[in-house]
Amino acid sequence: MKNKKFNYSSLKELRSDLNGIDFELPLSGNTEVLKNQLKTERNIIPNRIAIHPMEGADANDDGTPSELTKRRYKRFAAGGAGLIWLEAIAVDKGGRANSSQLFLNKANLAKFKELITLIKKESDCNPYTVAQLTHSGRFGENKLIAARDKKLDSVSISENDFQIITDAELEQLQLDYLNAAKLAKEAGFEAVDIKSCHRYLLSGLLAAKNRDGKYGGSYENRTRFLKETVKKVKANVDIDIAVRLNIYDAIAGGWAADEDGKPELKESARLIRELEELGVQLINITASTPYLKPHVNRPYDNGGYQPPEPPQIGVKRLLSLTKFTKDNLENALVVGTGFSWLRQFGANAAAGMIEEGWTDLAGFGRQGFAYPDFARDIFEKGEMDKSKVCISCSKCAELKANKKKAGCVIRDQELYLPIYRELQQERQEKEIVYSVEE
Ligand SMILES: Cc1cc2nc3c(=O)[nH]c(=O)nc-3n(C[C@H](O)[C@H](O)[C@H](O)COP(=O)(O)O)c2cc1C
Ligand code: SF4
Repeated sequence: MKNKKFNYSSLKELRSDLNGIDFELPLSGNTEVLKNQLKTERNIIPNRIAIHPMEGADANDDGTPSELTKRRYKRFAAGGAGLIWLEAIAVDKGGRANSSQLFLNKANLAKFKELITLIKKESDCNPYTVAQLTHSGRFGENKLIAARDKKLDSVSISENDFQIITDAELEQLQLDYLNAAKLAKEAGFEAVDIKSCHRYLLSGLLAAKNRDGKYGGSYENRTRFLKETVKKVKANVDIDIAVRLNIYDAIAGGWAADEDGKPELKESARLIRELEELGVQLINITASTPYLKPHVNRPYDNGGYQPPEPPQIGVKRLLSLTKFTKDNLENALVVGTGFSWLRQFGANAAAGMIEEGWTDLAGFGRQGFAYPDFARDIFEKGEMDKSKVCISCSKCAELKANKKKAGCVIRDQELYLPIYRELQQERQEKEIVYSVEE
């Protein structure tokens, strides 16, 4: 199959193309199953549609949600999804990706409480909310890295501007996670996510084969920080625990990847089972890192580079990895990834996969930006409106990568098109400067 953009007007056409790449994706014409609720140890998730964490890079300097941040969550809540997985929230100041990232601390707890109250008020289904706790590691302000990595070093640190985080600093950081989990509970979140993906710090530790000491080298050591943190939160905070996990890095020799960067999933299977035993209630799967291989992380029709594979293959990979995760767990709930590129048929894939036991919930990222009330349409009309869907153009990702406020440039134009134009203008000006310097 050549690179093939989305061009399907029926489930039949889509099914036939996917069969052509040897992918029998269950696509159901009946979306009723998406209305079913689920239970965790402490809470109810009112339906099977999840909004993935989507950073808008629009927090106030003090880490609190701005009016724009609140607008995003108001729209998600009013849209009817049963689970809202809030975007990355830093647990310590230096671990912020930039000064527009959310940062939860004692001094600003009240603002997070207000955000959760707002979400609950705007929704008519009492959505389950997850706080994605993060330290951005090599992509953070402090440039603290788990270990050197040739490929990632080139896109994240400069030779004299980074530090390998010490074991003692990691032990201190666990207390920051614990503290943030306590604050998240106070703010009203139903769960905390010990974020371990996209090669931010914890995901970097999973791949730190060349790190010395108790957090590097062997499987036991590389997974120690995540497991210890989960145990600490479990022992001290009465809140559900979730993990957004890179099921593989797609980087040669990285976490759960072979020397060609292909999935080698023995360690991931072991880790998710261990996390389940430790009491993790939800696993949200993802892969790779947007800084190196965004086509693996979010299959697209248009983006920064022409991917080496058609987006259909990327969707097949993510949805198959979702099934792999579900097949390896007994009780923990799985939030699947890979639905947005399928446009309106994402609803049919979500329903089919749940009916066939491939996943428990279907997570939508870009679709939430583009069409925040897609869940409501699915519940009320049985389908999504194709004139409102995400077209996988990658412009929201471009905004975020350039540290601009991020949202849907296509379907939320009034707000985000001017920001995108500003970015284009800046790029043009840079080109002019470079050509004058030449
Ligand atoms: C602008 C933007 C911001 C994102 N922010 C986060 C984030 O804060 N945390 C996270 O785990 N993933 C983040 N992601 C990744 C998405 O959650 C999701 O995994 C990805 O977009 C693929 O899902 P989709 O095909 O439904 O969009 C972000 C993606 C984009 C495009
Ligand atoms: S800008 Fe909008 S249409 Fe384009 S990928 Fe992002 S959410 Fe989808």
